[in-house]
This record gives sequence, structure tokens and C-alpha cells, in this order.
Amino acid sequence: MTEQTPTTSEENQPKRILTGITTTGIPHLGNYVGAIRPAIEAVNDNDEAFFFLADYHGIIKCFDPTQIHASTKAIAATWIACGLDPEKVTFYRQSDIPEIPELAWILNCSCAKGLMNRAHAYKASVDVNAEKGDVDPDHGITMGLFGYPVLMAADILMFNASHVPVGKDQIQHIEMARDIAGTFNFKYKELFTLPTAVVDEDTPLLTGLDGRKMSKSYGNTIPLFGDNPQVDQQKQLRKAIMRIVTNSQAPEEPKDPDSCNIFEIYKAFATPAEIAELRTRYEQGIGWGEAKEILFQKIDGEIAPFRERYNELMANPKELEEILQMGANKARRHSRKLLDKSRRAIGIKPLAKLKK
Ligand code: TRP
Repeated sequence: MTEQTPTTSEENQPKRILTGITTTGIPHLGNYVGAIRPAIEAVNDNDEAFFFLADYHGIIKCFDPTQIHASTKAIAATWIACGLDPEKVTFYRQSDIPEIPELAWILNCSCAKGLMNRAHAYKASVDVNAEKGDVDPDHGITMGLFGYPVLMAADILMFNASHVPVGKDQIQHIEMARDIAGTFNFKYKELFTLPTAVVDEDTPLLTGLDGRKMSKSYGNTIPLFGDNPQVDQQKQLRKAIMRIVTNSQAPEEPKDPDSCNIFEIYKAFATPAEIAELRTRYEQGIGWGEAKEILFQKIDGEIAPFRERYNELMANPKELEEILQMGANKARRHSRKLLDKSRRAIGIKPLAKLKK
């Protein structure tokens, strides 16, 4: 693990880990190996962990209410089915914590607009408009997209998180959260911890069915628990893996494992000995059908034990809702206090104490 921009916090101090999951899709293998599995494994007894469903971030990119709702449910069920213990970590839905958007507004008021102008996601949208020759560089860009990093800063600062596990694309947002925290601390009062991005260099970025990065936006993902509730999930997994695009080499030809997406996905699930063994098989010549079958068996072995719990939770949203409410109660014990301090720091407080 590499910690970007480390703070001066002492090595052995307990960490407060926090990360958010945007609720716009149905979890796929790339999410599993890139975020879900490492986050669940990273939780140990010394640290405090906050994991949340970032639904207010979801509505920045997705305008389909049905999809936002379905995604929230599937993501919550997936994290719990894959072993997240909601008693041990604080697992909540962002929109259940009204203090977060309140803090976001407060932070907005001391955050320089120029800082947001430099955000990658915003700049990418402006570039797209320029390429299209649009006269308005901000065409189609909402205030939600523009101010996205401020909401993310509020998510993080609200809980004084010290460590924020994220993908590389999010490092800039953590830097901005530090910047925003520093400005507030200097201007008003030292209330916020400066967070550090934690980027795990070993976390694989999976290739999708078509050879490009596995991503919902390319439509090339392998859904973790299938995407058709009518069809057996094991069958769906098998079918998806059989759809991985390969070249036209004959079965007996020696093959290069390092340029093969089947092998790459296999590496994310297998032990070093198993990886070495498959490498030898490639060099000796292996048929694509057989390689896919080996990959399927490996992934299925890891995922199969989670299916029952996933299906149970999906069929019983009441249980999920209770888990999320328990998480919200735990989270709000922190957020109420820190929001109150933040409001006082900027001069918003009762004029007098009223007798009850
Ligand atoms: N923007 C993050 C993503 O797209 C999700 C997210 C929202 C997040 N708030 C956060 C991640 C706070 C870490 C901390 O991946």
C-alpha cells in the first residue's frame, strides 16, 4: 500500500478508514477485486472503519431513479454478503446523514472556486464540449458535477477520517479535501483531520470481456451475482466468462499469458502456485475453452459461498434497511457533534439558551 501525501500522524495511532461507493451500478468482478474485497480485508481490530453508499454522488451521473434505488440495494447486499460486518464497521447510506450536505454547504463557502475549476472530472467534461465545438464550455455540466469534490470532502471530514482507500482516479479529490480542511482550520478553528489517500498498488485493475478496462460504462463487465434474477447465478457467471474475447490461436499453440485477459483475471483470484501452474499450461499450449473453464472454477469457488446471503438480503430489503439504519445511528453520533462544532466555529449558534 502506498499512502499519498502522508500526514505527520504517528505510525501506530489507530487509523480511521473511510470510503464511499457511488450507487450507480450493479457490482461486478472489477468492483469486487478492486474495492470490496480489499476494503473488507483491510478492516482490523485496531482501526475504525466507515463505509458508505454515496447516493448523493450517484445522482450526479445517473438521472434514473429506479437505477439509483436498485443499485443502492444491490451494493448494500453485496458488501454484506461478501463479509462486511456491520457491527464492526459503520456502514451507512450517505443520504441518511443530513449533516453531510450541511457541512458541504459550509465548506463550499470557504472553498475557492478556482480549486474546483482544476478538478479532473470537471475539466474532462469541458474538454468534451471543446472537442464538439460547443460555444458553451459548461454545456450540460451541473453544479452537482462541478461541486462534487466539496461533497466528497464533507463525507471525509465529517468523520475525521485519517485514511481513505481509493482508486488512482480519486487521489485528486482527497488532495482537495485536505486543501478544503486546511482552509477551514486556518480560517476558523482546527476542527478537521487532514485525510490521506491510500492507493493499493497491488490491487488489480481488471480487463473486461472485450479487452478494455472492466467498467460499467463500456458494458463489458462480469456481474458478481449475475444480472438476471430469473437465471441461476452460477450459470450466468459461467456464460459471462465464456464470452471473454480471445484471439484465434489453435488449442495446441503456446500462448502468452501476459497479454491474455483470462490469465489476468485469474491472477486476481489464484494463489502464486496456481498462477505459476497456469502459466506453464499456457506455454505448453492450452485451449481457450479450457482456460476459461479453469478461470470459472476459480472465481466460482470464491463467490459461491456469498450467494445465499446475497439472495436472502435481496429478497428481504427490510433486513438491509435495518442494517443501514443501525449504521446511520452510529454515524450520526459523530456527525451531529462535528457539525455542531463547525456551525459554532462560523458563528451559527443559538442566541440564548431557552429553558425547557
Ligand atoms: N467519488 C468516489 C468514487 O467515485 C466515491 C466517494 C464518494 C468517496 N465520497 C467518498 C470515496 C469519500 C472516498 C471518500 O469512487
